[in-house]
Amino acid sequence: MSTSDRPDIFDVDDRVRAGSSSQIPDMPSYREHWSRAEADPDGYWLAQAKQRVRWRKQPTRGLEGDFWSIREAPISWFADGELNVTESCLDRQLERRADKTAILWEGDEPGDVRTLTYAQLHEQVCRCANALVELGLKPGERVIIYMGMVPEAAIAMLACARVGAVHSVVFGGFSAEAVRDRVRDCGASIVITQDVGKRGGKHIPLKATIDTALEGERGVETVLVYQRDPAVTVNMQAGRDVWWHEQVDPASPTHEAAPRRAEDPLFVLYTSGSTGQPKGLVHSCGGYLTWVAYTHALTFDLREDDVYACMADIGWITGHSYIVYGPLCNGATSLMFESIPTYPDVDRYWDMVARHGITVFYTAPTAIRTLAAHGEAPVRKHDLSSLRVLGTVGEPIDPVAWRWYYDAVGQGRCAIVDTWWQTETGGHCITPIAPATPEKPGSATLPMPGIIPSLVNDEGREIVGPGQGRLCIEHPWPGLARTVWGDHARYVATYFAMFAGRYFTGDGCRRDADGYYWITGRVDDVLNVSGHRMGTAEFESALIAIDDIAEAAVVGYPHAVKGQGVYAYVVLQPACTDEAGAIQRAHAAVRSSIGAHARIDRLQIVPGLPKTRSGKCMRRILRKIAEGEPDKLGDVSTLADPSVVEVIVRGAEALRKP
Ligand code: PRX
Repeated sequence: MSTSDRPDIFDVDDRVRAGSSSQIPDMPSYREHWSRAEADPDGYWLAQAKQRVRWRKQPTRGLEGDFWSIREAPISWFADGELNVTESCLDRQLERRADKTAILWEGDEPGDVRTLTYAQLHEQVCRCANALVELGLKPGERVIIYMGMVPEAAIAMLACARVGAVHSVVFGGFSAEAVRDRVRDCGASIVITQDVGKRGGKHIPLKATIDTALEGERGVETVLVYQRDPAVTVNMQAGRDVWWHEQVDPASPTHEAAPRRAEDPLFVLYTSGSTGQPKGLVHSCGGYLTWVAYTHALTFDLREDDVYACMADIGWITGHSYIVYGPLCNGATSLMFESIPTYPDVDRYWDMVARHGITVFYTAPTAIRTLAAHGEAPVRKHDLSSLRVLGTVGEPIDPVAWRWYYDAVGQGRCAIVDTWWQTETGGHCITPIAPATPEKPGSATLPMPGIIPSLVNDEGREIVGPGQGRLCIEHPWPGLARTVWGDHARYVATYFAMFAGRYFTGDGCRRDADGYYWITGRVDDVLNVSGHRMGTAEFESALIAIDDIAEAAVVGYPHAVKGQGVYAYVVLQPACTDEAGAIQRAHAAVRSSIGAHARIDRLQIVPGLPKTRSGKCMRRILRKIAEGEPDKLGDVSTLADPSVVEVIVRGAEALRKP
């Protein structure tokens, strides 16, 4: 409910607070924790690591290294600690929670439900770990996981972690080409996949995509295939492909976890940046687990009897941190959802909330906007009284969507946690903490303890007090990705070169007079479409790879549902006479280079790109035209051929007409 003197602030409802046993129940304790983490980071995080994680050997060392010396060596946390993350997520839970549901799975068809208790999950992970060892997997080796949202995807991740191997999950929407790039980059020896994925009543041909990806590849010795649908026939290559039910199910149900050093890599996750080549961010075992367990417990005010449901896909960082590692380390019941919010109908989420008694629900603004467009009737059909905390992630949430989530779904009683973070940050960095932080619709609010944000202007000077600039973080925290797989120089160049001594997030941000942070979106060449992060350079390199296209420039533009849409300006080769065919091939090229989730929303054929006399494409002009603001182009007189702008503006207007 809003306080009367500050209508922009939503205080936490007493019903959200009741029953909380959070370490941070109110704002004074938030300030106290934040200050303690700032003044004594080693003491604060060693204590959290001890409390939240089970160690084989307790760490005594906190942070080593800093953002100034990161070029020479990655930072480290808890360097002398030893653990296997699955002992925190599984073995430890057997002491008090053996029969508690660990994974609650809802399949593509409503009511197709599987539950795995902690005891059952532990057993499944041990079987899978033994099967992987039998297949020759050694600690430190890489495994690509290319699966849909089935419990076996989480089991595969945990089994890799258990044997000390490094998993790299690739989202099931990525194309064969994208999978091949990742297999090569991390040098994977095993791929784990499934026959088909199921989503919204459709089959996703995961195994067939792997077959194409691995054509002519020599590094992958084994493909382990989970059978989702026995009615589906897939090609099994003799000597390479093995069925999960033949290899894993009969394997032994006990497995001694391999001890790892805190700084050993737990996983590599590829994400898009401003070049055409995605980067494999490397997350550690000890620091990462501490960070995701801490943030998962605090942000959502986690309670023992919560039914916690995160709607993300396991192929993205949200699935790693807040479906698998955070919730399981905290002994929570974590719901895994195979389908989409609109299948079979637009009330699917709310139907699940009512059937499973979901208490904490975490989704993306795109889903909220999609569902809000259908009005409140589908929400009102269901009893949503179990809900206590509602989270959002992945993109800015506009105040209108925020209010709909708060009023229609939360019925004015739930806390909304707008969590800002990134693949690189491992877990939440700027977010409300459910029982404590008063909220403002559209603001990610305040930094987590351990996070010291700063806003920096174009000249690299820090902005003090209210203002707007580039969002940086000042001091290392345990969850930060340590490096880019195989390319530490790229890690340094991407995140630490722009502003020396600071981690640069790539986001723009405003800070208001209350110290609240408002993320304004990416300031680099990264697009955020429906919460999916994609590089404009990835689109451009896919486009110019086809013969018909001479040049291409891709920018984002505001999209009512997806947050951002993809706008491609394409210059055809002079010899190309089949424009319609070229457009079709352009769409197909993007699909086969990136994947089905990457789609150009608007494609405009242009006679040339606006370039300076030195040949640099002025993307600022293309952005303004795509945004529908051709009157705000600024000075175009420095262009080699200013007349091209007029032609592009006219073409863009024609394209926008229905
Ligand atoms: O631009 C920010 C946006 O998503 C980017 C990170 O994308 P990715 O690494 O794929 O991770 C997504 C899941 C954490 C950020 O640089 N972003 C993420 N959360 C928010 C957000 N923008 C505004 N508000 C958020 N809550």
